[in-house]
Amino acid sequence: MKIKKTLGLFILLAVTLVMVYKFTDITPDKNLTLEKQAKKVLKYGQCVACHSHSPEFPLYANWPVIGDIVKQDAALAIREFDVKTVINGIKDGEPIDKVTLNKLEYAFQNETMPPLKYYMAHWGTVINSTEKEIALNWIKEYRAEHHYNGLASDEFTNEPIQVIPDSISVDPAKAELGRMLYNDVRLSIDNSISCASCHDLSKGGTDNKPFSEGVNGQFGGINAPTVFNATFNFVQFWDGRAANLAAQAAGPPTNPVEMAHKSWSDIENILAADKEFAKAFTAVYPDGITEANICNAIAEYERTLITPNSPFDLYLKGNKEAMTEEQILGYELFKQYSCATCHAGVNLGGLSYEYMGLHNNYFEARGTELTEEDYGRGKQEESTFFDHRFKTPGLRNVALTAPYFHDATQATLLDAVNAMVEYQTGEKIKPEEAEKIVDFLNTLTGEIPQK
Ligand code: HEC
Ligand code: HEC
Ligand code: HEC
Repeated sequence: MKIKKTLGLFILLAVTLVMVYKFTDITPDKNLTLEKQAKKVLKYGQCVACHSHSPEFPLYANWPVIGDIVKQDAALAIREFDVKTVINGIKDGEPIDKVTLNKLEYAFQNETMPPLKYYMAHWGTVINSTEKEIALNWIKEYRAEHHYNGLASDEFTNEPIQVIPDSISVDPAKAELGRMLYNDVRLSIDNSISCASCHDLSKGGTDNKPFSEGVNGQFGGINAPTVFNATFNFVQFWDGRAANLAAQAAGPPTNPVEMAHKSWSDIENILAADKEFAKAFTAVYPDGITEANICNAIAEYERTLITPNSPFDLYLKGNKEAMTEEQILGYELFKQYSCATCHAGVNLGGLSYEYMGLHNNYFEARGTELTEEDYGRGKQEESTFFDHRFKTPGLRNVALTAPYFHDATQATLLDAVNAMVEYQTGEKIKPEEAEKIVDFLNTLTGEIPQK
């Protein structure tokens, strides 16, 4: 098979290289708007031939050998990136998310796309330097208009990662009730645990355990993410089954392996029986102690659990002394190794579902049996496309939140970085480079809110 493939590629190379140069210069018309030019670049680059749920295959996709290659490529390509998001964004003004934009920028900056073997087989696909410039300029323009939050110094307005705000406006009375509830063991059936037991503010908002212990010594099957900065995530939980923080807070109190109450009305009754608490609560929520109000208050409190002014944020805000030379190099490597494509935005993650094991089969290499949790978003969706996709964890305060990964398999940050390089980027990294990325990750620890 290998020989056949090589031979096939060789023949294609010979036949098509001759034609390549003649047809490559189809640079879009300068009189079009920048976004329309960018759309043309994506079209000429044939990105939809591979990066789409309904790929538009070229004619020769039906030929032997080369056809198989094209179809295999397309199956891998849609795992990484859906170019229709960008094309529809330009066409209909639908929002283009930060991760998609970062990935696109990465591919153009590093000239990774279209893949070389495809370029050889299809003369329309080479991206020339003018087209590259068009794409990168449009990305910059789009980011400035839609993604930049105005907090970085002039030099850093076009970064794939944004500065975290110092605070978010909340209703202080609701947040204070939420704080009490977050620390209230009455949310568990036997008064033994609160939210804070598994999301301890002095442990990076986690429990630092592989798997969390609920009531009666029961263990769940997935690592507890931090509550810090969770407000910036596009959905909550590894599989995104809660749309927002309030919906998330409704889960644990009646989860049998966590807080194990039989029902929310039990919880409402227990809290209502506490006259002092009930008085304080109804002063803020006139319609009283209900599941919805309890969850609303907890969510409001969680919006205060953000961690601003990490050395990295100070650096992006313009304080050049805030990071060491190694740490700055680490940030450059973090971008070079494409880490910032998925670990994007204010939270360095939390904005998309990503396939775990893009470049090597993570679960096969792990060697232990697949659990239900290993399916990630796939647990919630019919289509197998979502199997093994997880909400990318945010990396703020990551130095405080070991162990790592949904299955808690990585004990240290260095382990996690090396695994990410191997499974998500498919690159080889020098040990001293991996260390520098860890140096950078250490700059993501911000001001931790006090209990
Ligand atoms: C022949 C199919 C094919 C075409 C055409 C193609 N890609 Fe890809 N692309 C892939 C495959 C396969 C991967 C994953 C493996 C890899 O990285 O080589 C990928 C990976 C990517 C990634 C993930 C990160 C990276 O850069 O490796 C991005 C972003 C991307 N492609 C963008 C594009 C854009 C933009 C175009 C059009 C200019 C394009 N691709 C054209 C097959 C294709
Ligand atoms: C027994 C330990 C335990 C308790 C108690 C607990 N959690 Fe969690 N929490 C977890 C685990 C484990 C997950 C991940 C579960 C998953 O993704 O399927 C999680 C996920 C979360 C998330 C999602 C974060 C993200 O990035 O997706 C938030 C927010 C959160 N918990 C807040 C709370 C709040 C608020 C309470 C109290 C009402 C609470 N937790 C009680 C263990 C616990
Ligand atoms: C294609 C998207 C993608 C890319 C690229 C990527 N990551 Fe990740 N990262 C993820 C996902 C998804 C997880 C969760 C994996 C799991 O739990 O099984 C993760 C987990 C992590 C974690 C562990 C966080 C935690 O709380 O458990 C670290 C640290 C990390 N990545 C760093 C990096 C670094 C460094 C790079 C670049 C070398 C990188 N990532 C590249 C998607 C990505």
